[in-house]
Amino acid sequence: TPDAHVPRDGRLIRLTGVHPFNCEAPFRDLFDEGFLTSPELFYVRNHGAVPEVLDSDIAGWELSIEGLVENPFKITFADILRQYEQVTYPITLVCAGNRRKEQNQVRKSKGFSWGPAGLSTALFTGCAMSDLIRTARPSRKARYVCMEGADKLPNGYYGTSVKLNWVMDPNRGIMLAHKMNGEMLTPDHGKPLRAVIPGQIGGRSVKWITKIIITAEPSDNWYHIYDNRVLPTQVSPEESANNDFWWRDERYAIYDLNNNSAIAYPAHEEQLCLKGAPETYRVRGYAYGGGGRRITRAEITLDRGKTWRLAHIDYQEDAFRRAEDDVKLYDGTLDVNWRETCFCWCFWDLDIAVSELAEAKDIMVRTMDESMNVQPRDMYWSVLGMMNNPWFRVTIAKEG
Ligand code: MTE
Repeated sequence: TPDAHVPRDGRLIRLTGVHPFNCEAPFRDLFDEGFLTSPELFYVRNHGAVPEVLDSDIAGWELSIEGLVENPFKITFADILRQYEQVTYPITLVCAGNRRKEQNQVRKSKGFSWGPAGLSTALFTGCAMSDLIRTARPSRKARYVCMEGADKLPNGYYGTSVKLNWVMDPNRGIMLAHKMNGEMLTPDHGKPLRAVIPGQIGGRSVKWITKIIITAEPSDNWYHIYDNRVLPTQVSPEESANNDFWWRDERYAIYDLNNNSAIAYPAHEEQLCLKGAPETYRVRGYAYGGGGRRITRAEITLDRGKTWRLAHIDYQEDAFRRAEDDVKLYDGTLDVNWRETCFCWCFWDLDIAVSELAEAKDIMVRTMDESMNVQPRDMYWSVLGMMNNPWFRVTIAKEG
């Protein structure tokens, strides 16, 4: 296969055929690793072959910054590291297709079936993308930052765009990264250079980045138009294939993640041995907000939403904020004021009496964020099956 040069972990679950490579870790393996995901278990979403970049070629890797700027320029990887301050902070990347399997079970979408492990967290090291763009001096009409990767695909290079004012906002933490957890990016994750856009769907974080083009309009790249959108729910696969205008409507493009959560303990249909067990069982899972918003409550129901109980939330990201200089892997200064924003997932837990679990048919979780957005009860089906975030449910099987 074209990816013969790419090392991969045998635990990863392939979600599509042999090629391209799309995978998630077994959910429990991902969850049990805790806050930071090891690069081997980090989910992978590739549209095509992974560009082969030899170590000897990294220093000379070129990024060009062009378009509506007064000072277009090209810069090598080595010069980016030399000339721009490098910072490190944790970021959770989430594929917009996370939890799509549940949509496909209701009605087949055009996307493949992600479980709830289409997300991963790493300490990313890189420079603020805004620093390079400032050097290029955007002109008055500049509104968007288009990015392009080196992976040549059936419909051209992978590319997309985000708004220029987001990139220039230090609270958004948008970076050009070359390291994950202190090591050079692995080939699957963008070696040697990628964009990382916290709080937005993973699809905007262009890997193997070679070009930044400043424009007045959103990207016209094929993958920007025909991927990462939530079309109105009545648009069927046939309708979307017949009428291009659905795709051409930028209102349906997705950027900020919506808040979401999943239950890891117990696993779906896990046989809970309740006899002789301790008096309480600790239900546990993850949650994340979008656009830098913090999850402010996680709630559990054992009766399909009639009554709710409040879970405890653990934002491990906060430890990185408090202990900036003590964090071992931390090797830069934070010039983003990211104290005000949340870039990562959090964990929640709740102890439930085993006697109550014995009575329950299922367990469901929903979250609310600081803007009071709450996960919906009902699924919003759409043709690409993206942003699926209704209450997450596990059924429990009981033994004894
Ligand atoms: N960048 C390029 N160049 N090519 C791609 O196929 N996939 C995007 C994004 N950036 C992609 C890309 C999508 S849809 C996602 S969800 C993330 O990369 C996945 O990043 P990861 O594979 O490092 O987890």
